[in-house]
Amino acid sequence: MRRPGDHSRTEAARRDQPAPSPLAAEVLRGLQSERKTLPPKLFYDAAGAALFERICEQPEYYPTRAELEILEARAPEIAELAGPRCALIEYGSGAGVKVTLLLDAMERPAAYVPIDISRDQLCTVAADLAASYPDVAVRPLCGDYSQPLELPPLPPGARRVGFFPGSTIGNFHPAEATAFLRRIRRTVGTDGALILGVDRRKDAAVLDAAYNDASGVTAAFNLNLLTRLNRELGADFEVECFAHRAFFNSAASRVEMHLVSLDDQEVHVAGSTIRFEPGETIWTESSYKYDAERLDSVVGSAGFRVRMRWTDSEDRFWVAFLEAAD
Ligand code: AVI
Repeated sequence: MRRPGDHSRTEAARRDQPAPSPLAAEVLRGLQSERKTLPPKLFYDAAGAALFERICEQPEYYPTRAELEILEARAPEIAELAGPRCALIEYGSGAGVKVTLLLDAMERPAAYVPIDISRDQLCTVAADLAASYPDVAVRPLCGDYSQPLELPPLPPGARRVGFFPGSTIGNFHPAEATAFLRRIRRTVGTDGALILGVDRRKDAAVLDAAYNDASGVTAAFNLNLLTRLNRELGADFEVECFAHRAFFNSAASRVEMHLVSLDDQEVHVAGSTIRFEPGETIWTESSYKYDAERLDSVVGSAGFRVRMRWTDSEDRFWVAFLEAAD
């Protein structure tokens, strides 16, 4: 455990520092704010992405299974609402598994645009899907889908239908969720639609268990963030001096994940010293849980309306079909 007052390394590290990289600047902004935060997108280095895959297999983490159950049961109805010859645009395509349920059910889909930040996985998935669906124009787009992106050319006249599964919308704070959905609304246009995966508000015990799995995979996922900062920014977090904490904040309707400092300690990150008090946390993720009112309000202020929503056999999750409201 490194105690405050051990300044020798700090002073040396401070001299001759080059301008911080965008990653360092973002991390320092979060760690130097009064309420320490780190953005959840930083979870997903290669180790974090693999840990997330394992989270999805944990018995307590129901969202992935619940969403798949809905997509498997409702793909024909979703495809009916999407209509023939549509261009499907997936935000965060990952391994590209869920989309095949839609492509199989849709009537002569014209195009598929997978958007993902991981170039290698994107190229592999796009090549596999292009081979499996030779009549679909597969047009991969590499980038951060939460930022404005220009779409590749799409077949003229094809209805644009977004696909944003996984309840990742829950990782945006409400105003960010509205801003993001508004951008999708502009992309799909006035006759466009969006197929959205949303995790429902439910009993706190179920949510607490889902984010505190007994095997400790979610804890490892959360703590891996510090390992990543040590590797990529030369930080010196002692990972065993932090603990995973996740709980449902009922008033805000969100699960919060934090990394709790187990002692009074100092950490050096990109030339700056960050001081932690015992029990102080870094807030690493929010996962908002939606009821019907919140869903209507967030999508409504983005220019969509809920045309239909389907739930799973245990009422835990929704797949919603949104249409442009104006
Ligand atoms: C990606 N996202 C929807 C997951 C969630 O449930 O908020 C990330 C996650 N965090 C902990 N477990 C899973």
